[in-house]
Amino acid sequence: VSIQSHRKDEHVSLAIKFYDKTSHAGFDQLRFVHQGIPEISLDDIDTSTTIENIRMDFPIYIEAMTGGSEYTKKLNQKLARIAKITGIAMATGSQSVALKDDSVAFSFEIVRETNPNGIVFSNLGASSDVSRAKAAVKMMNSDAIEIHINTPQELIMPEGDREFNWIENIKSIQEELSCPVIVKEVGFGMSKETIQQLVDAGVKNINISGKGGTSFSRIENYRRKKQEMDYLEDWGQTTVESLLEAQPFKDKTNIIASGGIRTPLDAVKAIALGANSVGIAAPILYSLIKNGEEETIEFVNDFIYGMKSIMTMLGAKNLSELQRKKLILSSDLLSYVSQRGLPY
Ligand code: FNR
Repeated sequence: VSIQSHRKDEHVSLAIKFYDKTSHAGFDQLRFVHQGIPEISLDDIDTSTTIENIRMDFPIYIEAMTGGSEYTKKLNQKLARIAKITGIAMATGSQSVALKDDSVAFSFEIVRETNPNGIVFSNLGASSDVSRAKAAVKMMNSDAIEIHINTPQELIMPEGDREFNWIENIKSIQEELSCPVIVKEVGFGMSKETIQQLVDAGVKNINISGKGGTSFSRIENYRRKKQEMDYLEDWGQTTVESLLEAQPFKDKTNIIASGGIRTPLDAVKAIALGANSVGIAAPILYSLIKNGEEETIEFVNDFIYGMKSIMTMLGAKNLSELQRKKLILSSDLLSYVSQRGLPY
């Protein structure tokens, strides 16, 4: 087993070990105002959304996690079945491992084999060039590709990257791929400055993946064993802070949220703050490993029902109506917004 394949297995086991069903992504600092007479039926709710030309019935999808080993192939196969049965989209983990070592490509290809007509997203790091990005899309005949940015994770990893000249790669990938390109964080969030750099590079889909759910500083620190850099465990902007950072760009670019989405209420709040879709990673993996496929299908269906219920209570028929609902901010968030000069 290669070092990289082993790392993929470790990421799964550590994400489960550290899984916390309570979100720390800031959603508890936001409230909706209850409306008693919404004049709407649950059946009127339309949860559909788009990522460029990709139409999705539901605004949630299985976020990038795994692939690259025999064990994670089985997980990807199960995740792909869950995506197929529930009708949600799915991203795989980074395919970098399979571009280096052909013999593990099957652990990604299985996703397309299992769900031939589903919506599938590829995933690669931002140090990848255009030809690798094209090869990753080809491997799964993917509908879109996620390019992840993750400087703290790389620097905490002893074997990680130390050079971060990414923007030219991102620009060429955006220019030369024929499918939608999504640039995503991995749980450290984004600032308005980072989002501006991406918008300037022509990126049309930005997943701010914020702090408050799975923590890759925690996971990589645990893997280090010695000389932990645990002082970085609180690094980054929460998902809510990142969505506030994204306010000036909501009309120019497609904002996607992930990181610490744990309940349907978290997801609906993320959409009200401007996200057009929401990625969920660890809760789905945790449910799959602890409770199995059937219960995870139920988890996803209940999640969608929960989102529709909240939209009904708010009288929001669709995502654009939901995005017109103003949330009440805690005084901490108000202070954040004012210190960062953000329009909300
Ligand atoms: C991830 N994540 C991730 N992201 C990415 O872009 N490429 C990757 O290869 C991985 N690998 C990975 C493995 C495992 C086991 C987990 C749990 C997560 C990050 C993921 O897509 C997401 O951004 C964060 O996990 C935050 O979302 P949750 O877990 O809080 O819902």
